[in-house]
Amino acid sequence: VAEWVTSARGQLREMVKLLARPDLLSFASGAPSVECLPRAVLAAIAARNIEADPLSLQLRAPSQALAQEVVSVMASRGVTSQPGQVLMVHGGQQGLDLAIRLLLEPGRPVLVEEATYPGLLSALEPYQPEVLRVPSDPAVGMDVDAVERLLEGGARPAFLYAMPEGHNPMGSRLPQGRRLHLVELARRYCVPIVEDDVAGLLQYDDTRLPPLRALDDRWVFYIGSFSKLIGPALRTGWMVVPDWALRPLSLIKDLATTDIRTVAQELITDFLAEGHLAQHLATIRAVYRERRDRTIAALREELPDEARFHEPQSGLFVWVRLPARFDTLALLRAAVDVERIAFIPGPFFGGDGQLSSCLRICFASCPSQAIEDGIARLGQLLRRHS
Ligand SMILES: Cc1ncc(COP(=O)(O)O)c(C=O)c1O
Repeated sequence: VAEWVTSARGQLREMVKLLARPDLLSFASGAPSVECLPRAVLAAIAARNIEADPLSLQLRAPSQALAQEVVSVMASRGVTSQPGQVLMVHGGQQGLDLAIRLLLEPGRPVLVEEATYPGLLSALEPYQPEVLRVPSDPAVGMDVDAVERLLEGGARPAFLYAMPEGHNPMGSRLPQGRRLHLVELARRYCVPIVEDDVAGLLQYDDTRLPPLRALDDRWVFYIGSFSKLIGPALRTGWMVVPDWALRPLSLIKDLATTDIRTVAQELITDFLAEGHLAQHLATIRAVYRERRDRTIAALREELPDEARFHEPQSGLFVWVRLPARFDTLALLRAAVDVERIAFIPGPFFGGDGQLSSCLRICFASCPSQAIEDGIARLGQLLRRHS
């Protein structure tokens, strides 16, 4: 077995599997809420499609109709794109993997935030690149001045990895000024940006900042996904990429997983073409907004005064920084065994120990009426270990 498979991150992944215990009130999983997945609509589409279309299970070229629907979804985010710039992928995770395969030359580092999406770190593991980190803040996201200092100092990362909306794990939204600055740096230093926007459509206020891709179509590789919106089991996401990258990326995709139209893609095409997305988004935003509000109110009640957290305006997560005396990896055992709750400890998201007193709370998948109870148990845990 290759060494990277059994690395420290592999051990962290094993630990997080423990959190699937069914008796837990869990704030750990980043999955959407089961009640928020449109099973009835999709079941009706599936029953009709598979029966009526004799080619539904056959080998077919990727669907232009879906690419066109994705162009409309992108337009609703303020991004102009062409169907020819869209590449369908098996979830945002595959988008990350493809971007890495395309962009990561041996010996080049990658630039990420100090707390970042673990799936990106996992996808990098086979290549073992140097990972450059810049500070990040739950209110205003990536420290773009720190990115500039690194680039000015001569760092030439293969790409910058950014989550400007609904950041996982910090819940941050990057303000417009920082977005403009980041894109300007990408252009000035010729560094591609991999923009992970898988939670970009889950916004809880009326601010609608367009993604980085709206600001630049030469350096920004945009990744979207239907996982958080319609269901992770559909394994369907999309990329909108620079024209120069489309052919090589399609080739890599085809070599990795044969680029054909999947059953899931066909269901999603009809879901979008029949106009279900707008109503569905309105419904799930309302559910998640309410859960966010309850979570924030309960955290204000229960956490020690010195704890720091920020109300997220998008995404599924609240990032909590506890006083330095707390070690959230060590606390997790008692959380699970004694309080029967789960969260994800900060070190899972990277860092060299700076995140050891942090934890990520997912407010989306815990049933609404259980949130106060769960956060009260977290408060109790912290009081006992203070
Ligand atoms: C930030 C981020 N990127 C990518 C993914 C992968 O999503 P998908 O299910 O579309 O592969 C996730 C899933 O949790 C995520 O949180």
